[in-house]
Amino acid sequence: MPNLSSDLSSIINERLNNLTASKIRAFDQKVSNIPGIIKLTIGEPDLATPDHVKEAAIRDIQANDSHYAPQAGKPELLEAISNYLERSINVHYDPTSEICVTVGATGALNDIFMTLLNPGDKILVPTPVWALYFQLIKMTGAIPVQVDTKKDGFILTPEHLRHVLNGRGKGAKAIILTDPSNPTGRVYPADTLKALAEVIKEYKIFSVTDEIYAELVYGKAQHHSLSEYIPNRNILISGLSKAYAMTGWRLGYIAAPKQIMKSIRKINSFLVTSVTDNVQIAAVEALNNGQNDPKEARKIYEARLTFMQSGLEKLGFEMATPQGAFYIFAKIPEKYGTDDEQFAFELAQKAKVGVTPGRYFGKGGEGYVRLSYASSTEQLKESLHRISNFVNNL
Ligand SMILES: Cc1ncc(COP(=O)(O)O)c(C=O)c1O
Repeated sequence: MPNLSSDLSSIINERLNNLTASKIRAFDQKVSNIPGIIKLTIGEPDLATPDHVKEAAIRDIQANDSHYAPQAGKPELLEAISNYLERSINVHYDPTSEICVTVGATGALNDIFMTLLNPGDKILVPTPVWALYFQLIKMTGAIPVQVDTKKDGFILTPEHLRHVLNGRGKGAKAIILTDPSNPTGRVYPADTLKALAEVIKEYKIFSVTDEIYAELVYGKAQHHSLSEYIPNRNILISGLSKAYAMTGWRLGYIAAPKQIMKSIRKINSFLVTSVTDNVQIAAVEALNNGQNDPKEARKIYEARLTFMQSGLEKLGFEMATPQGAFYIFAKIPEKYGTDDEQFAFELAQKAKVGVTPGRYFGKGGEGYVRLSYASSTEQLKESLHRISNFVNNL
């Protein structure tokens, strides 16, 4: 087995020195070795990709659709995405010039950050947040400016945004908003988005909205997009990973005004050439004929959320009501203290339930843990039982 020549390890891209591997994954791996553990750590739907979507991909493979697809995406998929966005948020994006198909929402994020950011640029990141943003932003040499939203129930307010834009975020090129949020499950109400849009309009700044959980919104909450209010500034990201349980297929997309989309498409083609043919055909099937699939998933997740939320609250965990995605971001019980890392580690070792320490999601996450309820109902029941024993014996 070859060992890298010792003089070479010091000459790799020096930005990597500032980047640590995902703490969420590292923690997950650490607790995975505990025998009998139930893991509520990773944001991976336990549901399966719908059969009709799988069948569309199989038919496509058998028809030898296995060549380079058009770089921004197959026309029928661009059309299906455009129709979906029109149906869901009532904004028209021209399939020929305003949409790009990407390798998952992660590919979309990379395309956008590489399109917008130069080394030294600032981008506002409301926290707690899905931590990969930090790494991808730093890979471009840009600086993520964390905006802790804890005091406002994990929702960025227009006043807070203005304060940051006039202060330590002055000159920021962009803000990225996750809605619904991972890790908090919070959903931005329409009037808050509208008011945020009013502030954003006053500054020379792009907004980027990560709407990967848009289809997973519960109760009275409704998903809206900044694209409804500032379509001329917003860059929208979404994909099929979460709503259709298709994380492994790697299908995401971006919608944005054509002037910026031209550059985004260029970067996407440099990075990946094009997205896998049969995956694109599966996505056409999901978007055109699978409109009931997310509804089914929603019903399942909502029942689990209700069960877990009420169970945890009875045990003394507090939370800002989760309304979307499949996460609960819970404040650990007062009698334990505030060390979420220690709490999560002890819970894993003693109660055999894996949850993720809140501090891994950036400022405002200390003292909290994230639980993913994308696990089977039986597993959730058992984990609540174990958490209950653990907390009651503290
Ligand atoms: C907020 C957010 N954005 C993007 C992604 C990545 O999505 P994909 O698997 O489509 O790359 C995730 C996955 O957990 C996420 O939570």
